[in-house]
Amino acid sequence: MSDFVTVAKVGDIEDGSGQAFNVGGKMVAVFNCGGQHHAINDFCPHMGASLAGGYVEGEAVTCPWHAWRFSVKDGTWLDNPKVSTDAYEVRVAGEEIQVRVPLPDDDAQQPDEGTASSEGAESEDES
Ligand code: FES
Repeated sequence: MSDFVTVAKVGDIEDGSGQAFNVGGKMVAVFNCGGQHHAINDFCPHMGASLAGGYVEGEAVTCPWHAWRFSVKDGTWLDNPKVSTDAYEVRVAGEEIQVRVPLPDDDAQQPDEGTASSEGAESEDES
């Protein structure tokens, strides 16, 4: 199972913007929305633009190439919710923004308990 990986320090990503990071070979767009951090696949599923460079408004990012809009919270394509891109867990540990990108075989390793631990996940530093 993959671990959380530090990508930046709190304050490195300006409020209302995103930055792309390589996390275990996967490009991940991390956004700061009013102090809450979110992470989705950086590659737009349309033609591969970097979503980290998109326009952020609220909890939506608009792709810089053709203006498809995605939720930064869950990766949903806001103009067609049947389509989505991957979203990843983010947490703040001390001053570090950390992202967990599942490994390809993580699904096969998930316990089937229905009570997957969320301890530490989704936690955000309020400051
Ligand atoms: S590449 Fe993102 S909308 Fe076209």
